[in-house]
Amino acid sequence: MKVILDLKITHSECVGAGCVLLQAKPLEGRLPECQPGQFAQLRVDAPNVLLRRPISIHDVEDDTISFLVQVVGDGTRWLGELKPGDTLNAVLPLGHGFTVYAEETDGDVLLIGGGVGVAPLLYLGKKLKAKGIQPTFLLGARSRAQLLRLDAFRQVGRVLVTTEDGSEGEQGFVTQHSIWAGESRFSMIYTCGPGPMMKAVARLAVERGLDCEASLENRMACGVGACLCCVEELADGHNHCVCTEGPVFNIQELNWR
Ligand SMILES: Cc1cc2nc3c(=O)[nH]c(=O)nc-3n(C[C@H](O)[C@H](O)[C@H](O)COP(=O)(O)OP(=O)(O)OC[C@H]3O[C@@H](n4cnc5c(N)ncnc54)[C@H](O)[C@@H]3O)c2cc1C
Ligand code: FES
Repeated sequence: MKVILDLKITHSECVGAGCVLLQAKPLEGRLPECQPGQFAQLRVDAPNVLLRRPISIHDVEDDTISFLVQVVGDGTRWLGELKPGDTLNAVLPLGHGFTVYAEETDGDVLLIGGGVGVAPLLYLGKKLKAKGIQPTFLLGARSRAQLLRLDAFRQVGRVLVTTEDGSEGEQGFVTQHSIWAGESRFSMIYTCGPGPMMKAVARLAVERGLDCEASLENRMACGVGACLCCVEELADGHNHCVCTEGPVFNIQELNWR
């Protein structure tokens, strides 16, 4: 059930690549149940910012929720300047998240993230691990300096890395990693990141006959299905609201072919 609540910032940390890790607890009461892949609409109290900003749920631990925010404009700059003790108003949890299977799958699951798109994958990995499913993270970035929260991901599962300049892990894109060579033992792929990366991952998944879910980051205003600014034409030929029916879709539903 979605709620509007005030959160108190408990931790704020620059984690590189222009990103800030925010941790917060409800000022009163408890956090609602949040699924990985869902997001929050965060209120920005800056004079020149009218709308809330959609930010993925990065992690939930007891009553602490985390967000990983990349500063790209006025809204995210305001969020990135929050300090412990500050109040942050949030509407959450919003949208339809990743499918977390109820029991062990036949193969491993591969979680592929690029840039700040890695944000929802940490909580997803934790939820999968709690079900007895071992996640492998394949994380891509331009260079070592752009890789985010590797230590946190390593505490949850195996971490493979690609960088475009070869400064960390294998050189190239996530779709060029040597893990793709030979027979795939993955039963499921989850991906979040830049559109071209997710489309390339989806093509590989289709070629290999693997199930795959992708999290879209269409521009959003209301986040609750009222303004229609986030619509995406799906494979059925109709426009669908990404904020309510997504942001996570099975690639079979997407018009990416
Ligand atoms: C469901 C969802 C989850 C998201 N999760 C995260 C997250 O966990 N961490 C995070 O840092 N960001 C996330 N984003 C993106 C984030 O919402 C935007 O970066 C933010 O709204 C930009 O606000 P701003 O005021 O700082 O920048 P603006 O001034 O609004 O825009 C600055 C620049 O960012 C671009 N931009 C704005 N929104 C988006 C977007 N949705 N996709 C691509 N480019 C955009 C604009 O085109 C412009 O070039 C998510 C977006 C969605 C839809
Ligand atoms: S953001 Fe308003 S309908 Fe999706």
